Amino acid sequence: MIYNVALTTLAVWRTGPASLVGDGASRWNEAIFARHSVRTYDGTPLAPDDASSLAGLRPERLGAARVRHVLIQGDRALERIMRGLVGSYGRIAGAPALVALIAQKSDSGHAPALGYLGQQVVLEAVSRGLSTCWVAGAFRRAAVGEFAELAEGEEVLCISPVGRPAETTGLRRLHDASLKWITPGYGKRKPLEEIVRGEVRAPWLQAALEAARWAPSAVNLQPWRFRVDESGGVAIECPAGPDSKQALDCGIAMANFAVAARAHGAPGAWELR
Ligand SMILES: Cc1cc2nc3c(=O)[nH]c(=O)nc-3n(C[C@H](O)[C@H](O)[C@H](O)COP(=O)(O)O)c2cc1C
Repeated sequence: MIYNVALTTLAVWRTGPASLVGDGASRWNEAIFARHSVRTYDGTPLAPDDASSLAGLRPERLGAARVRHVLIQGDRALERIMRGLVGSYGRIAGAPALVALIAQKSDSGHAPALGYLGQQVVLEAVSRGLSTCWVAGAFRRAAVGEFAELAEGEEVLCISPVGRPAETTGLRRLHDASLKWITPGYGKRKPLEEIVRGEVRAPWLQAALEAARWAPSAVNLQPWRFRVDESGGVAIECPAGPDSKQALDCGIAMANFAVAARAHGAPGAWELR
């Protein structure tokens, strides 16, 4: 039985007019299914257009928590931020740029808000033909501060490399392949029946849940659950508190859900509980 852990309702979906994330929900909707984590890059610097679009993106907010992203470019930054992690899980190589995802940790709801914001940046990158990889583990948080000014109380919770994938050979290929054995359900997702309670009738809702299902999560744990009530109302549930790592993952799934709902003609927005 999958519902053997206590779940907390994190947010409810309110249908109605909403500001559209990005300039095209359908472009981002396609990116949801094209995206997968890439850990080895070919080093090609970002095109100026891509860099300015990512740096200047104004993602839609989830709640009032202060979260933001900063694009950092250049080999030196990458070397400083990624140094000393040779051989560790999820080591990133060759990326010409990274996005730092920053939150005011004392703000309630910062975790889902950062997931929601970061995934929009990821979808923008992927829709421009770039690759990404959410990383919460192996990077030197303090070094990010050398390239992005951090305000009092701000912390870099995650980063994502951005760039073009490289062919992998030798040890690098072994490293990337090893993730298949240490990540549960690598490349797969739990079936909808396992993550959704209630009857799904509307086609837009089916599409939005499918998009949420394919969201990335730390160690592919997919902690999100959805509850659909009699009247078709949707809530997202999380097995841990609103500022947990799982809530950050849920924020990522909520972004996918919102993008797909809007791409299927059902505007609305999440309201945090
Ligand atoms: C919040 C978060 C943190 C992650 N941290 C790491 C990490 O530290 N190292 C890594 O190699 N992958 C990390 N990942 C990537 C996940 O392992 C990956 O998204 C998941 O296995 C699903 O695979 P996919 O992204 O290719 O669909 C992280 C993903 C998320 C969402």
